[in-house]
Amino acid sequence: MKAIVYRRYGGPEVLRLEEITKPVPGDDEVLIRVRAASINPYDWHFMRGTPHLLRLMSGLRRPKSPRLGADVAGVVEAAGRKIRTFKPGDEVFGTCKGSFAEYACAVEGNLAKKPETVAFEQVATAGIAGLTALQGLRDKGRLHRGQTVLINGAAGGVGTFAVQIAKALGAEVTGVCSGKNVEMVRSIGADHAVDYTLEDFTKSSRRYDLILDCIGNHSLRACVRVLNANGAHVGVGGPSDFWSILAGTIKKPVFSLFVSQRFIGFIARISREDLEFLGDLMKTGKLSPVIDRRYSLDQLPEAMRYVEEGHVRGKVTIGLEAEIDAASVATAQGQAQIATP
Ligand SMILES: NC(=O)c1ccc[n+]([C@@H]2O[C@H](COP(=O)([O-])OP(=O)(O)OC[C@H]3O[C@@H](n4cnc5c(N)ncnc54)[C@H](OP(=O)(O)O)[C@@H]3O)[C@@H](O)[C@H]2O)c1
Repeated sequence: MKAIVYRRYGGPEVLRLEEITKPVPGDDEVLIRVRAASINPYDWHFMRGTPHLLRLMSGLRRPKSPRLGADVAGVVEAAGRKIRTFKPGDEVFGTCKGSFAEYACAVEGNLAKKPETVAFEQVATAGIAGLTALQGLRDKGRLHRGQTVLINGAAGGVGTFAVQIAKALGAEVTGVCSGKNVEMVRSIGADHAVDYTLEDFTKSSRRYDLILDCIGNHSLRACVRVLNANGAHVGVGGPSDFWSILAGTIKKPVFSLFVSQRFIGFIARISREDLEFLGDLMKTGKLSPVIDRRYSLDQLPEAMRYVEEGHVRGKVTIGLEAEIDAASVATAQGQAQIATP
């Protein structure tokens, strides 16, 4: 089968499209014929082996596994002995190991059944970004109907999910993005959009019950000024060097001791129930992933380069279906396609 492999850490030039042996699922795994995948910053962190702390898990000098890609949607081809939920032929989505390939294995709990009416490409965007947005807002942020939420980084992968999920949860939503994305962020449901090139949201007189921060470019002291007394700041993303991560981990709990607001950092967990929740939102039209560009498997280095620049509008997908591959010809020439609800 064809797969993207990397045998040393580095930029997109370390990625190769190779013919490798088709994986065999373990007892608690299913083998998926991949129809679509999507890219997250997570993937280029593994590609580069940064922050270096990550290499404790991924291999100190070189990657332990040559495969990349987490978000996946496809069809179950084979199921391990202990699999109870899925059978060959089932259409599924979620996360796996090595989705940038024709086939990949995944454990049962990391997958959900794909709603029939939702395309593979749409559900392929939901794994990491969708779960992070949902868990950040609902579980960590305890967002509920009638509250106000600000999403910093509203135009990105997590942000475009967060805007729509926050609206579905009944909140009043403010999205922070650059001027070119203001219209798109409004079109997916934000009540207000702040252009960060013109206005610093921490200097505004508006107050929020929750800040979901995908960027982490403002100090905690600046954020506390725009939070209501019992508000919360949920940190999703930020500078990824070792010292910033360490400082952030210590600072938030300590800072929370001196203010009435909660400051929380978190890492999303993969949950079948939450994937199903996202699938249901997509099925009912309350959530429609924003797709910026589509690429084919052999264009992955180019796609990764684009995502690394940090200005994706929604998600970038990798298609393993003929129709998606055809669409990639147009988009790879620079004509971004925005799919809005
Ligand atoms: N904690 C977790 O479990 C978890 C899970 C997933 C992701 N993450 C992290 O969360 C962060 C966001 O992930 P993602 O998938 O959303 O990334 P992404 O799709 O690459 O984010 C790109 C977006 O960031 C926006 N942006 C860049 N600079 C900005 C600024 N100064 N202010 C506001 N928006 C800005 C860009 O909008 P413009 O083009 O308009 O500037 C672009 O739309 C990353 O750091 C990622 O590593 C964490």
